[in-house]
Amino acid sequence: MGDAPATASVADTARVLGGVLGPILAQGVIVRRPRAVAAAGRLHLDDRAVAILGRMRERYGRGPLRLRVPGRSVALVLDPDDVTRVLRDSPEPFAADSREKRGALGHFQPHGVLVSHGQVRDERRRFVEAVLETGHPVHRTAGAMGPTAREEATRLADLAAITGVLDWDRFDAAWTPMVRRIVLGDAAREDHELTALLTALRGQANWSYLSPARPDRLERLRLRLGAYVGAAAPGSLAALVAAASAPDRVDRVDQIPQWLFAFDPAGQAAFRALALLAAHPDLLARVAVDADDASADDLARGAVLESVRLWPTTAVVLRDTTTETHWEGGGTLPAGTALGIVSSFFHRDTATVPAADRFDPERWTEGRADDGHTLLPFSAGPVVCPGREVVLHVAGTVLRTLLRRVTVAPVPPSPLDPDRPLPRGLDPFALRFAVGARRDAAAVAGG
Ligand code: HEM
Repeated sequence: MGDAPATASVADTARVLGGVLGPILAQGVIVRRPRAVAAAGRLHLDDRAVAILGRMRERYGRGPLRLRVPGRSVALVLDPDDVTRVLRDSPEPFAADSREKRGALGHFQPHGVLVSHGQVRDERRRFVEAVLETGHPVHRTAGAMGPTAREEATRLADLAAITGVLDWDRFDAAWTPMVRRIVLGDAAREDHELTALLTALRGQANWSYLSPARPDRLERLRLRLGAYVGAAAPGSLAALVAAASAPDRVDRVDQIPQWLFAFDPAGQAAFRALALLAAHPDLLARVAVDADDASADDLARGAVLESVRLWPTTAVVLRDTTTETHWEGGGTLPAGTALGIVSSFFHRDTATVPAADRFDPERWTEGRADDGHTLLPFSAGPVVCPGREVVLHVAGTVLRTLLRRVTVAPVPPSPLDPDRPLPRGLDPFALRFAVGARRDAAAVAGG
């Protein structure tokens, strides 16, 4: 084991910053900037980013690869075994509350689990896992969550069938009220102001600690969320927040903004999954079967998982090292090093992922994707996304309901051709579908 980790030259550092990390930041890490997402697609920036990282690994070895960033020790994790180690050994010595995350998320959830470390993190994590029922495919509120998702998706399908078109704005206009109902209760359905407030705070968060804090906005958000927790609408996550036991140090209300925020890219993932299914009519037909059918439910979830594998909503998983760390392939890194794991570099690695650029939802339903090594759309280890099962249940239910009720076809030119490798970027805001009522739809209304 050598002591000098591979360090990128100034030119290669500039390549990585300009070609990989810059475009990720420009597209908005906390809230997406639609114009930047569209430009990234037109310029094929995602393909370029993966190609740059591949070249770095060839040139410097399996890493980690240090970048020459003034004032901060920064390294990219380029080896699948190192990814496994970093995620497994989080949050110590690989802390999840990296400096950048604290700067960004402090704007709207200063006491959230994601920006915590040590004992208080353990307590907050336990609380979040208890409410979201991490690891349980069917949440105890599924009896309320499922019907809410079906009701909103049915309404959306009927509206789209009348106009003949489904685009992002219409999808989002159904998704966001549905999320407010699931998280906060039915009374929150029309609370557009709450979403606007959170979006404004997330807009600040895109600039991390470069953006001035707005304690007035944060306080308004807390008061509003606190009122929903106080009301504890039966079947909502807010009711569980009110009821779950937790030490005083766990700021219950402050955990909620992360859930509302994370449901937003989840909508984009579900909409991309719809595009994937629309481009693969054989698989779409199997998701659209009318009967209550566990394998169709699983396939819908598999489509969502493929969507986040192909186009990860968390582009880079970040960690800060808390101690000096030693690496088989890369010497020693000092404590306080920022580590970045670029998800799509691993998700689309044709050397390790069979049919990496194809849509194959059955890799998830048949357990072929579960090696826990390089396919990490929800991360892994002790910091794994605690909302994974909730989001798969909700997104899968929305897809199933839509497809049981209406026919959906991509409006050409579709960027997804089943005979060609799938593009590395897919702008969800530009997707459009032609929609028609299914002749037998009455039979499945609300079902
Ligand atoms: C497409 C949907 C989603 C994806 C792909 C996703 C993925 C992720 C990823 C990659 C992380 C970072 C883990 C790490 O740093 O290792 C994370 C964290 C987290 N996610 Fe999700 N997430 C999604 C939706 C949700 C939803 C809907 C919720 C809540 C209902 C949620 C709750 C959380 C929380 C609380 C954390 C912080 C965990 C911690 O710091 O211990 N996520 N998620």
